[in-house]
Amino acid sequence: MVNRIVGMYFSPTGTTEKIVQELVELLAADFKCEKTYVDFTLPDVRKEVQIFNEDDLVVFGTPVYAGRVPNVLLKYIHTVQGGGALAVPIVLFGNRNYDDALAELQALLVEDGFMSVAAGAFVGEHSFSEILGAGRPDNADMEVVEMFAENIYNKLTSDFKPVAGQLLEVGGQYPSKGYYQPRDRKGNPVDIRKVTPKTSDSCNNCGLCAKVCPMGSINPENVRELTGICIKCGSCEKKCPMGAKYYDAESYLYHKHELEEEYIRRAEPSLFF
Ligand SMILES: Cc1cc2nc3c(=O)[nH]c(=O)nc-3n(C[C@H](O)[C@H](O)[C@H](O)COP(=O)(O)O)c2cc1C
Ligand code: SF4
Ligand code: SF4
Repeated sequence: MVNRIVGMYFSPTGTTEKIVQELVELLAADFKCEKTYVDFTLPDVRKEVQIFNEDDLVVFGTPVYAGRVPNVLLKYIHTVQGGGALAVPIVLFGNRNYDDALAELQALLVEDGFMSVAAGAFVGEHSFSEILGAGRPDNADMEVVEMFAENIYNKLTSDFKPVAGQLLEVGGQYPSKGYYQPRDRKGNPVDIRKVTPKTSDSCNNCGLCAKVCPMGSINPENVRELTGICIKCGSCEKKCPMGAKYYDAESYLYHKHELEEEYIRRAEPSLFF
């Protein structure tokens, strides 16, 4: 019996949030029950422990980073207590591929005590780009979310019985063989791990970037200074009202350009029940 729908998501540039929220709204209307959200994008929220029970249906979303669940979230995801709640794992990818991220997220949630009932990979505008997956998720994606909600509702109101520990067959594999490694044209690895955004003179010190950084790494007293790690999530760059955050590292710009050339075709969502 579903008594509450919960949307949980990490979403620095808002595409995961968009899909999770739409699905939660549709499911709450179908089940005629209460709905609530846990946006764990900011570090303070990840200090709280979330505990669910078997009357909950949790739509749990993360972006795909290097073909996987962002590794900075793994510790936090392990603190979530499923308590026999139903779960719908969702990943958002930037029009390249979701590789093993959905299989990984599903396995992590099942390890946390959730029961997986359906899963989906959707497309969002790429964190590094404004042309790769531009404007996604769009109206066509939202129609897929509608169909997804309808199928989940039909499954859960049929004689389907979820089984603890069971994994649905989804795209990708877990344990995974590794993280996606960008390469140059000669096949050499392109390493962007140490790259960080710069701040131009058009910055007016409004402080927004420090507030939205999911790693809490931008010094609010001096937004040019990073005090912790940068995951290149795109939040500070895409949300800066002055367009003052930018990247000039050759490796990052090369990788971005390669992605934009190679993956410009439209990738479609994948649903699993
Ligand atoms: C560090 C990093 C790695 C990424 N790796 C991938 C990837 O392997 N495949 C892909 O299609 N998109 C990749 N993306 C793009 C994001 O998955 C995509 O933009 C997603 O919609 C972002 O979610 P958000 O809007 O909720 O932040 C990556 C983004 C970042 C920041
Ligand atoms: S959001 Fe942009 S303008 Fe505001 S402090 Fe950050 S870099 Fe400067
Ligand atoms: S500094 Fe890095 S981690 Fe923080 S918002 Fe900007 S891109 Fe994301």
